[in-house]
Amino acid sequence: MENAAPGALPNPLREGLVEERMPEPATMVIFGASGDLARRKLLPALYSLTRDRLLPSRFAVLGFGRHAQDDEAFRDEMRRGCEEFARRRPVDAAVWSAFARNLFYQQGAYDDPAAFQRLKTRLDEIDRTLGLPGNRVFYLSTPPSTFAPIIRSLGQAQLAPRPAPGRPFARVIIEKPFGVDLDTARALNRQVHEILDERQIYRIDHYLGKETVQNLLVFRFANGIFEPIWNNHFIDHVQITGSETVGVEGRGGYFEQAGILRDMVQNHLLQVLSLAAMEPPIAFEADGVRDEKLKVLKALRQIPAGDFDRQVIRAQYGAGSIAGRAVPGYRAEPAVDPRSTTETFVALKIFIDSWRWAGVPFYLRSGKRLPKRVTEIAIVFKEAPHLLFGKRADSIRPNVLSIRIQPDEGIALNFGSKLPGPAMEVAPVSMEFRYGSSFGVEPPEAYERLLLDCLLGDGTLFTRADEVEASWTWVSRIHRRWAEETASGDMRLPEYPAGTWGPDEADRMMAADGRSWRLP
Ligand code: BG6
Repeated sequence: MENAAPGALPNPLREGLVEERMPEPATMVIFGASGDLARRKLLPALYSLTRDRLLPSRFAVLGFGRHAQDDEAFRDEMRRGCEEFARRRPVDAAVWSAFARNLFYQQGAYDDPAAFQRLKTRLDEIDRTLGLPGNRVFYLSTPPSTFAPIIRSLGQAQLAPRPAPGRPFARVIIEKPFGVDLDTARALNRQVHEILDERQIYRIDHYLGKETVQNLLVFRFANGIFEPIWNNHFIDHVQITGSETVGVEGRGGYFEQAGILRDMVQNHLLQVLSLAAMEPPIAFEADGVRDEKLKVLKALRQIPAGDFDRQVIRAQYGAGSIAGRAVPGYRAEPAVDPRSTTETFVALKIFIDSWRWAGVPFYLRSGKRLPKRVTEIAIVFKEAPHLLFGKRADSIRPNVLSIRIQPDEGIALNFGSKLPGPAMEVAPVSMEFRYGSSFGVEPPEAYERLLLDCLLGDGTLFTRADEVEASWTWVSRIHRRWAEETASGDMRLPEYPAGTWGPDEADRMMAADGRSWRLP
């Protein structure tokens, strides 16, 4: 068994894990190392893993990027990133110095064969100096247009051989977006498969690394009492909310092309939906879980043309205020077309064509510049079949099980309780579980879990080629319909003031079904 990195601090909560899940010695190469993701998420996650003794002592990180800098400058920049963004701060000096010793940087272009030869030479040299067996993970934290060229270059430089017994591993983590529609996702899958086996590919969706998203599986499948009622006999509908207070945060150029449907729904929210709706897998392992998620994605009912306006609402934020601070409308954001028709909010009514979910609508909404940052799944149960409490029944609400993915991670069950006193009055109350208070620790960052899983060769929390294509199949139909509306001059894009819960149309969608959005 490989030892943890020297200087790493003991972590009693993770002792079991240290024994069970220590990856083999390896090097992680981060393409796009001078970008934001490396500084804000990747290096802080690797540092935290080192601190928690979850990485082997023989472990190196090589940043690869277009701009010139030496190892020392890269280390300094990453240290600043960790000081600012690591989960536990300040950065521990001893852990950092052990970690930073094996942190390197190399400059190069993503499509330059000579740069990849130099990369190979450098990696071999690192292997020799640190006594590493040649295992490598390549992290593509670069613009999507570079994914295929980088993988091709890795292939040409023989840096990504297919797996074989006794051969060191070569794995590739691909950031989102994986394609912009079904055709581009398929084309990218084809290009990637020319070089790599599917089991070498780790398509990241950081929502799957969130502790509470994983807890959804534990909640459903490690407890006997919920699964029997997790179906259309007991559930009236499901609401999934992914709301943010931020606007496009300097990413106007990207967002103009993406819109919220691509940015949040195609990946994060449909993944959350598929975990909430899937059948129990035969085992908690990569293909078992992904096979079941895939079935859900394939069973998403295509929205009938005649119901499109009732089931798909899009909107864009106008000027407004967030937490008392005035903020501009989307069209006034930098790098955004002043006549932009890109949606920053979407609300959807979705059906899953399966025995379990027949007739149960899943309402999804996601938006920028909403009043609160919250990701939540709310399972709204059917009402009691017969109410005994006469007029007082007005105050009886359906039971709601809300699974809070972030912030205030936890689970709450709302139910009716008798109000103390002589009358038979009912009041809504809640039973709650909170991560923070139950376990006394903050959940780790999503990237910590995902990087560790990739090093361990566990693809359960990464999306497979067929899943990505299935979700694009469903989402691309909406985009096509929107394109037709735009072409015929018949598009509707209501505006909602920043700091509100989206347009009235989204409320009307629910009201038409006799329901309403929960206030998360
Ligand atoms: C990213 C989107 O994938 O997820 C961003 O591109 C969004 O637009 C972010 O803000 C939300 O992630 P989180 O973890 O903050 O909910």
